[in-house]
Amino acid sequence: MKPGQKVRETISKKGQALLIRYIKQGDERIMAPYINKISRERSFILKQGEQITMKKEREFVEEQVQRMKNKEGLALLAFFGKTLIGVTNLTVKPLAAKHVGDFGISIAKEARGEGIGKIILQELLAETKKELKAVKIMTLEVFANNPVAIALYKKLGFRKYGCLPNGIKHRGKYVDAILMYKNIYN
Ligand SMILES: CC(C)(COP(=O)(O)OP(=O)(O)OC[C@H]1O[C@@H](n2cnc3c(N)ncnc32)[C@H](O)[C@@H]1OP(=O)(O)O)[C@@H](O)C(=O)NCCC(=O)NCCS
Repeated sequence: MKPGQKVRETISKKGQALLIRYIKQGDERIMAPYINKISRERSFILKQGEQITMKKEREFVEEQVQRMKNKEGLALLAFFGKTLIGVTNLTVKPLAAKHVGDFGISIAKEARGEGIGKIILQELLAETKKELKAVKIMTLEVFANNPVAIALYKKLGFRKYGCLPNGIKHRGKYVDAILMYKNIYN
């Protein structure tokens, strides 16, 4: 698990060359425009229009790299050629919950439905098992009105364990926040 290390190279369903690698310093230059675009879309992520500055994104990237060094998390980026089209990152919880890793994922609008979400999550699972052996449970939170993501997580073995009614405000309406988990045995 090294910054910038290649994890997988394959071909997408539509025949595009896909690369998945670990995050590295300097990635804020591609990540800030990427996440700001998804935020403007008001997709199913917590950022709903807010725009991140390059400085803040640099701090985020540095934190992710540091977490990897400390075995407290990992972040993977997916590319079509040089274009960033997906990000997933897992954060290990502290202290008595350090066997639990919480993750998030996003795929660029133009690359959705091509199997990239599934591939990058399979890699996140595999890398977590390999590199973060203390992690035994993976968790996530998903908007209840996001059937694509829920179907993907179920397909990969995640199960619902809770729900915060009206825990999310999405496009002006309250929706439930669904909590899911998967046991991973190293
Ligand atoms: C949710 C998301 C990560 C899924 O990634 P993706 O690359 O679009 O999904 P994939 O193409 O890998 O599809 C995986 C599974 O999702 C489901 N799926 C994908 N597209 C779908 C669609 N249009 N309708 C219904 N189910 C769909 C299928 O079960 C599919 O499995 P299959 O290919 O074996 O049939 C991605 O769409 C995304 O980033 N959306 C916006 C942000 C977001 O929702 N993030 C998740 C926050 S919890």
